[in-house]
Amino acid sequence: AGLVVAMDGPSGSGKSSASRGVAKALGLRYLDTGAMYRAMTWWVLEQGVDPADTDAVAARAVEPEIVSGTDPDAPTIHVDGVDVAGPIRGARVTGAVSQVAAVPEVRARLVALQRQIIGDGGIVVEGRDIGTVVAPDATLKIYLTASAEARARRRHAELSGGGAETTTVEAQQAELARRDTIDSTRKTDPLSLADGAIELDTTALDLQQVIAEVLRLVEE
Ligand code: C5P
Repeated sequence: AGLVVAMDGPSGSGKSSASRGVAKALGLRYLDTGAMYRAMTWWVLEQGVDPADTDAVAARAVEPEIVSGTDPDAPTIHVDGVDVAGPIRGARVTGAVSQVAAVPEVRARLVALQRQIIGDGGIVVEGRDIGTVVAPDATLKIYLTASAEARARRRHAELSGGGAETTTVEAQQAELARRDTIDSTRKTDPLSLADGAIELDTTALDLQQVIAEVLRLVEE
């Protein structure tokens, strides 16, 4: 089977940029599983379902068709044929995604889809439960961390660069802390360090250094 690199960690740890960079360097595919949870959340909101209504979310989780492109140069995400790459990064979806992702039926559906996409491997997969649940036999499992402040600063820079929303570093830090708490305390597949995962603290590293370190670990 081909290489599978699992990249887990909290929001703002630099997972997305590092995962895409590693995939490009190795000529592998790339899967952003967070985008799939965001896409499901976008659809739930679009349907007028209350994201806090666990039973309603669970009952309808099988309905939307979620399609993820795996080209690291141009990741795509569609729900029932609609391109949702923009709206899934907005405050509405970000505010509700951890609630929706905590619903076991949502996770069962998306984990199955993710395993289908991983197939025979040749892919870098980023998320929260890749090394623990989605691909426990991954070739290499990385757990990225960074200080809360560094993560908030990065997320703020990303959002400001996008020009879509005005926000402050403090507001980002509060939002990340809120999501981290839900993500690491939920009953189903909480964010945690997988067996055999290598922890990489990116607080003092730039993107190229993080990519270089992961590539070094792949070659070991
Ligand atoms: O990575 P990103 O910040 O886009 O993920 C959005 C949310 O999706 C996370 O806060 C988490 O609630 C959920 N998620 C998850 N499992 C994954 C990936 C993301 O629960 N594998």
